[in-house]
Amino acid sequence: MRAAVYTRYGTADEVRVVDVDAPTPRDDEVLVAVHACSVNASDTEALHGRPLYSRLGGLRRPRRHVLGSDVAGRVVAVGRDVTTFRPGDDVYADVLDRLGGFAEAVCVRSDALAPMPAGMTHVEASAIPQAAAIALQGIRAKGGVRDGSRVLVNGAGGGAGTYAVQLALLDGAEVTAVDTAEKLEYLRSLGAHHVRDHRTQDFTRDGRTYDVVLDLAGYRSVRAYARALAPGGRYLFVGGSVRTLLQVLLLGPLVGLRSRKRLRVLAVRLGVRHVAPLVELIQAGRVRTVVDRCFALDDVAEALRYHGDGRTRGKVVVVVREDDAPGGS
Ligand SMILES: NC(=O)c1ccc[n+]([C@@H]2O[C@H](COP(=O)([O-])OP(=O)(O)OC[C@H]3O[C@@H](n4cnc5c(N)ncnc54)[C@H](OP(=O)(O)O)[C@@H]3O)[C@@H](O)[C@H]2O)c1
Repeated sequence: MRAAVYTRYGTADEVRVVDVDAPTPRDDEVLVAVHACSVNASDTEALHGRPLYSRLGGLRRPRRHVLGSDVAGRVVAVGRDVTTFRPGDDVYADVLDRLGGFAEAVCVRSDALAPMPAGMTHVEASAIPQAAAIALQGIRAKGGVRDGSRVLVNGAGGGAGTYAVQLALLDGAEVTAVDTAEKLEYLRSLGAHHVRDHRTQDFTRDGRTYDVVLDLAGYRSVRAYARALAPGGRYLFVGGSVRTLLQVLLLGPLVGLRSRKRLRVLAVRLGVRHVAPLVELIQAGRVRTVVDRCFALDDVAEALRYHGDGRTRGKVVVVVREDDAPGGS
């Protein structure tokens, strides 16, 4: 089969589409013919080997040589212990623990798979897993947001942010969306009440405060984030620099103590079994999935370049097979 392979951390120039052996499913695994696999920030981070936490699997060289975690496709074969899926089933999964989605086929543990949501194409389904899990747990975990809560989403124009903004709006929040200038019009079109360009406006220094800050691109100090919180407010670090992550982990509990501000790292529970509430909202037409651009498997390097260069609104998807009619019933 063909797969997009890289063996060294670096730029997208490291990625080559080559022939490799097709995987064979173990007893508890399912072999899935990949139809679509979306790009996440975790892919570009694992490509660059930056931030440092993306090297957990291999400090000097990547341990997994095929990126891609959010797959949608069709079951080709099942291991002998698998009773829940059959060849021909349309399925989707987040395989961040093993990667391998930018390929013609991938083996997935059967408990990580779910039937593809009814009425969706493979492209739409592949856009959901990681972004939806982050958005749901970022906006709705620990009491969620109340009517009128002031919510700020930093890094709002990407995959997780697009869902997070819409969820917070649905839950009645007053939403401020922060991203690069080119994406602000897009964020307004999602319904954000206020938008900020992170390059020219520092939301931690403009005197405004928020009940919830969901940070998908955290590069500031823990004190700066505490400043942006209203008393009783909550800051969640999801992605960004290792320096900020460590500060939030170690100092977060202390910094906000007196004003009851909570600053912590959100360790997202990934996997499609965690995204059902958002899938229902998408199927009901209350939240939309935004796919900015699709690329062919041969153009995975171009997809990774495009995702990392500041233009992407919502998701980028690699389409491996073109027969993409809506599935399910
Ligand atoms: N905590 C966990 O358990 C966990 C699990 C999975 C993923 N993650 C993290 O979740 C994060 C979000 O993922 P995603 O797939 O939604 O990413 P994404 O699609 O790349 O979106 C990130 C957005 O943030 C913007 N951005 C970049 N730097 C910024 C800055 N300094 N200030 C404000 N916005 C900025 C990006 O704009 P440009 O296009 O201009 O760069 C992009 O629109 C990633 O950092 C990933 O590592 C965390």
